[in-house]
Order: sequence, then C-alpha cells, then structure tokens
Amino acid sequence: MENFYNKLLENNKKWVAEKIDADPEFFHKLASGQKPPLLWIGCSDSRVPANEIIGAMPGEVFVHRNIANMVIHTDMNMLSVLDYAVSILDVKHIIVCGHYGCGGVLAAMDEKHYGLVDNWVHHIKDVYRFNKAELNPIEDHQMRFRRFVELNVIEQVQDLQKTATIQTAWQSKKTPSLHGWVYDISNGLVKELITLTNQ
Ligand code: CO
Repeated sequence: MENFYNKLLENNKKWVAEKIDADPEFFHKLASGQKPPLLWIGCSDSRVPANEIIGAMPGEVFVHRNIANMVIHTDMNMLSVLDYAVSILDVKHIIVCGHYGCGGVLAAMDEKHYGLVDNWVHHIKDVYRFNKAELNPIEDHQMRFRRFVELNVIEQVQDLQKTATIQTAWQSKKTPSLHGWVYDISNGLVKELITLTNQ
C-alpha cells in the first residue's frame, strides 16, 4: 500500500517531465483556460477512465462520474456540472457511457444490500421497472444484465434531454448532441446505443 501511494507522486513527476519534453508550452497553454468540446457522464468504476478510453487530452473532456452513470433530476452535483458545461463551456457533445459488468446495475437487478449506496441504487431499480416488459422474459442472467446496462444508458440519455438545461440550450442553438454508449470491459470497445440531436 505504501509503495502504491509513493509511486503516485513519482508517477506525477515523470508525467510532467514527459509532457514538457513533448511540448514545453503544454502546461502554460492549459493554464490559460478550458474550452472542452465534450461532457462525459460515466460510471465511477475504476476500469472505465473517461479520457483514456477515447484517447482524449487534458482540456478536451469535462467529466462527471457517479455509480452507474445516472442522470437524476434532483442531483445538484450532476445538474451543476451539466449546466456549467452547456451554458458556460458550450460543449458540443454529451456522452453518457455505461459499461457491461456494472456493479451498480447488478445491485439493482439482484436486490442485494450494500448500505448507504442502496439509496442511489433505488434510482436504477426504477429503470428496471420501466423496462421490465423487455427485461423479465430474458431468462439468461448474463444476457438480462447486459441488456439492463444498455437500457439504463438509453434511459439516462432520455432523462438528459428532458432537463431544463438541454431544453433551454436547444431553443437557441443546435448543440449539444446527446449520445449513449456502452463500454465493454472485456475488449475495450465502445458501442453506440442512441444519439439525440436538436433537429
Ligand atoms: Co459501473
């Protein structure tokens, strides 16, 4: 554990040196401000690092992550990130990215209890209930789990579209476009599930 922790500080120094080596102005440019074209709403899962899986550089992605990449209408944290990203930063795209093997989605499906987080999982259970006509007939547990992950992403994108921030933005501009993705931890690939644009 100590080794792991100490390594983090070493890694940081190494990373700074590499960046400056490639571009001496790297940090000066970033320090002048941000204009990211993308807001990423993803899962907190350690295996789905936003920037890394899409090859994005610092300055390109504004990020919000929570358990099971949820868009909850009473979540002031998410709403604040969303409104700042859309109204002030003027992002052109928002990606909601879920992933197969998501522990939050599985918890909602299997009715297990984990403590405080159960309150959050309750929102995911609602998504199951909205989609039970499609999910219940899938007998294979793994297949049902995978489809639930996908339907949860689609549901969150639709919820995103209903927010006051997006509705207000779409009255005066074409952007942002809303995208729902699912990431496959077993091969690293992303699949597009849904895109909503202001047409
Ligand atoms: Co997850």
